Amino acid sequence: PIEERITLLMDQMTLEEKVGQMNQYNGTWDFTGPRPEGGSEKEKLEHLKQGLVGSMLNVTGVKNVKAVQKIAVEESRLGIPLIFGYDVIHGHKTLGPIPLAEAASWDLEAIRKSSGVAASEAAASGINWTFAPNVDISNDARWGRVMEGAGEDPYLGSEIAKARIKGFQGESLAETNTIAACAKHFAGYGFAEAGLEYNMADMSISKLHNTVLPPFKASVDAGVRTLMNSFNTLNGVPATGNKLLQRDILKGDWQFNGFVISDWASIRELIAHGYAKDANDAALKAVEAGSDMDMASHVYVSELAKLVKEGKVKESLVDDATRRILRVKFELGLFDDPYKYCDEEREKSVIGSKENHDAVLDMAKKSIVLLKNEGGLLPLKKSGVKIALIGSLANDKNSPLGSWRLASEDGTAVSVLEGLEKYTDNQLVFEKGTDVTIGETQFVNELNINSTDFSGFEAAKNVASNADVVIMVLGEHGFQSGEGRSRTELGLPGNQQQLLEEIYKVNSKIVLVLNNGRPLAIPWAAENIPAIVEAWQLGTQTGNAVAQMIYGDYNPSGKLPISFPRNVGQCPIYYNNYSTGRPTDKDNNVFWSHYIDVEKTPLYPFGYGLSYTTFEYSNLKIDKESYQQGEEIVISVELKNTGEFDGKEIVQLYIHDEVASIVRPLKELKRFELVDIKKGETKTVQFTLTEDDLGFYNNQGKFIIEPGAFKVMVGESSIKGLKGEFVLN
Ligand code: IFM
Repeated sequence: PIEERITLLMDQMTLEEKVGQMNQYNGTWDFTGPRPEGGSEKEKLEHLKQGLVGSMLNVTGVKNVKAVQKIAVEESRLGIPLIFGYDVIHGHKTLGPIPLAEAASWDLEAIRKSSGVAASEAAASGINWTFAPNVDISNDARWGRVMEGAGEDPYLGSEIAKARIKGFQGESLAETNTIAACAKHFAGYGFAEAGLEYNMADMSISKLHNTVLPPFKASVDAGVRTLMNSFNTLNGVPATGNKLLQRDILKGDWQFNGFVISDWASIRELIAHGYAKDANDAALKAVEAGSDMDMASHVYVSELAKLVKEGKVKESLVDDATRRILRVKFELGLFDDPYKYCDEEREKSVIGSKENHDAVLDMAKKSIVLLKNEGGLLPLKKSGVKIALIGSLANDKNSPLGSWRLASEDGTAVSVLEGLEKYTDNQLVFEKGTDVTIGETQFVNELNINSTDFSGFEAAKNVASNADVVIMVLGEHGFQSGEGRSRTELGLPGNQQQLLEEIYKVNSKIVLVLNNGRPLAIPWAAENIPAIVEAWQLGTQTGNAVAQMIYGDYNPSGKLPISFPRNVGQCPIYYNNYSTGRPTDKDNNVFWSHYIDVEKTPLYPFGYGLSYTTFEYSNLKIDKESYQQGEEIVISVELKNTGEFDGKEIVQLYIHDEVASIVRPLKELKRFELVDIKKGETKTVQFTLTEDDLGFYNNQGKFIIEPGAFKVMVGESSIKGLKGEFVLN
C-alpha cells in the first residue's frame, strides 16, 4: 500500500519539506545547461540537510551518489531519500548508437535490450532515473536534437518510445537493474521554428494531437514514471507553464500519476520568455500549470512556500506534486533501501561487461542503413584487396560516441580504422585528408566546422590512386549534433565535400561511410559515389560494426526513420505531408507546387534502406472490399528473398484516408514488421488494422473516425510498395 505510506509520511511533513521534494539541484561539478542563477554550493548543502532537496542530477558513481544520499538520509529531519537523475541517453559508459540510429533498426526488441543495457550500467553506478527517452518527433534536420529522437513518424516513434521505456524500467522498478524513465520534452520541441534551438513552436491542435503527442501518450500507456517538459513555447505558451499540456491532457485526459520535471532552468526561463515577471511569478505559473519538480531554477525552493502562505498558490497543488514524487521514490524501493543502487561490487562487474559490449555491437550493426550499392561494390572481399581509408573521422575514437554521452570516457570507441585493420589481411592505408575540427568538450561553445586546410589532400589522393577500393569516412563529428547544435547547412562540414570530389577524380571506386547525427544533404555523393553506408554515430563498438557490415558478415537491414533532403532549403521535409491543391504540373505550366531549382522529393525517403540481398513483394490481399465500423481489416503480402544472401526486410504498411473533414497525410505508417528471411525463401506477412488506426484528431483535440475510402500501400519504403484499397462504412 504505497499510497498509505505516502499519506503517513506527508502527514509528518512541513510545507517547506514538501516543497523541498519538488526541488532538484545539479551536482556541483557538472552542468548540462547554463550555470543556474541563485543558490551557492554552501546553500545546496544546507538545503540537503534541511530536507529541502528532493532530487539531484548529474551526480554519478556509487561513491558520489552514496555520499550525497547519506546527507539526505542521515542528516535531514525525515531522512527522505533523494532520487538521482542523469542523462542516460544511449548508454551510460558502454554506449550504443545514438537514438536516431537505433531507430533506423526498426527492431523493437533490440532497442528494448539496448535501453536495458543502459539502465543496468546506470543503475550500477548509483543512478535511479534517466532523462530518456527523448520522444520528440521532428522532421527538421537543421535541429541538432534530431539525433536524440526516433525521427519523423508518430507511429514508429510511439513504438520505439514504448520499447525504450520497457528497456529502462523493465518488469519492475523494484529490481536493482532498472531505473525510472522520463519521456521528454513535453511538448513540441521538435518543431522549433527553422530548426533553431529553443525556438518557438506553433502548430494546429490537430497536428499537436496527431503528430507530437502520440509518442507521449504511448509512453504514459507503457507506464513511464516521469515526463520532462520542454524549453519552447507552444502556440505562445511556454511548455513549462502550459496548463493545457500538463494538467488538462497529461494528468487529466491521460490520467498520468507519475511526475513532471521541468527542463533545466525552464521555470526561471519563463521570465526570459516574457511569460512571468519575476521568479515568484514563474514559480506560481509553473506549479499551476503542473510542473512538479524544478530542475536547477532554484525558484520553487525560494518562492513556493511563501506563495502558499500568502494564499496565492493552493497547498493542494504542492501536495499533489509531492505525492507524485514520493510515489516514484517508493516504487523504486528507495524508502526500503536508499542505497539500493550503491553497490561497489556490482558497479565493477556490470559496467563495461563483455555482455554489454556484445549487446551494443549487435545494436550498432542493426542501425546501419545501406543507401546505395551500385554494381554490388559491397560487401568487399576479405583478401587481396588494397584499401585506402580516408577521412579523419575514420581514426577518431571520440566522435563515434556521439552527443549526449555524459558518463562515457573519451577515446573509448573502436574507430573504423581499428575495426577494419584487424578484421582481414587486406592491405589498408590510412590518410586523414582533412580534419573535422570541433571544440574540446561536449558543452563548449566553440565548434569550428569550416576547416579550410587543404594540406592533407595530396597525401590522400596518393593513397587513393594506388588502391583497389577507397573507403571514405566523412560527415559530422559526434558533437556537431545534439543540444545547442542547430545547423543552417546540411552538407558535409568543412572541406570534406571537396575532398570527396578530389578523391573521386583519382579513384571512383569509393565506399562512403557517413557519420552524422542528422540527415545530411549529399546530392553529389548520391549521384556519383557507388556505395554509401549510413553509419551515424554507432557508439563504443562502431568500428567493429562497420567492419562486419562492409565485409558481409552482417547484412544491413536498417531503414531511414527520417527523410534526407536534397538541400537545406527543402527543410522541413517529411513523407507524411499533404497533397496541396496543385500537386502535379499540367501542360508544362508553372502554377503547381514545386521548386524551380530542385525536385521536391527527398534525396532518400523515410523508410528507405537497401540490403545485400533483394526482395520481391507480391500478392497483396485485403480480406474485404468494405468494412463495418468495429471490424478488423486483415492485410497480407508475400515477400520473397530473391537475392544471394539471407537477409532481413522491414515490411511497411501505409494508409491514406482519401477524403476527410481535416485533410489527411498522403501516407501514414500504420504497421511494420521486421522479417528474417533466407535466400530463396518466401514468407507471408500479415497485418491487422482496427478502426482506431483509421481515425485522427480534429482541431478540437477530439479523436474521430470517419467513413470513406482508404488507400493501402505495403512495401519496402514510404515511396515503394504494392497498392490496394478498401472502404469503411
Ligand atoms: O535532460 C536534459 C534535457 O534534455 C536538456 N536540458 C538539460 C537536461 C538535464 O541534463
